[in-house]
Amino acid sequence: MKNSYTCAILTVSDKGSRGERQDTSGPQLRRQLTESHFTVSAMEIVPDNQEAIISVFTQWADQDNIDLIVSTGGTGVSPTDVTPEATQSILDKEIPGIGEAMRTASFAKTMNAVLSRGIAGIRKQSLIINLPGSEKAARENLDVILPCLQHALYKIKGGMKDCAECSTK
Ligand code: MTE
Repeated sequence: MKNSYTCAILTVSDKGSRGERQDTSGPQLRRQLTESHFTVSAMEIVPDNQEAIISVFTQWADQDNIDLIVSTGGTGVSPTDVTPEATQSILDKEIPGIGEAMRTASFAKTMNAVLSRGIAGIRKQSLIINLPGSEKAARENLDVILPCLQHALYKIKGGMKDCAECSTK
C-alpha cells in the first residue's frame, strides 16, 4: 500500500512566466506524479530568478508542508539558469545520489545530460528535486527517480522500519 504524499510542481522559465511559451513540462510531470499516487496540490510558473524560486520553495516547504517539490527548468548552463543555486541556498541537506542517478541514466539517451546541473535535497520535511526544462527531459529524468521517492519520503519523515522491509527496488 503506497502512501498518498502531496507534491507541487514549479516551472522555471522566463518565456513561460511571460506567457510567450506554453508550459507542457509542468502538466507532463503532473500526469506522471498522479499516476504514481501523488496528490498534486499546487503548480506555478516563475521566471529564472533566484528570489522568485526561493519564495515559492520556502512557501511550499515551510507553510504548506508539501511532501515532494519538483522544479522543471533552469538547470543548464545558460547565463540565466539559476535553479540549482536557488535550491542549494535553501536546502538543509543535499541528496547528491538523485542528481547523479538522473544524469547517469540520461547519459544513455543524450550526451547533453551532462549539461543539467540539477540538485536534490531536504528542507524541513520536504524533498525538493530539480528536473531539466524540456517536456522530454523532465519526463525522462522523473522516470529515473520515481521508484525511490516513496521510500525517500518515508525516511525523511522519520519512518523507522528497516530499509530491507520496504519494497522499493
Ligand atoms: N536529460 C534527458 N534525460 N533528456 C534530455 O533530452 N536534455 C539536456 C539535459 N538533460 C535532456 C536531459 C539538455 S539539452 C540540457 S541543456 C540540460 O538538461 C539542462 O536543461 P534545462 O536548462 O532546461 O534545465
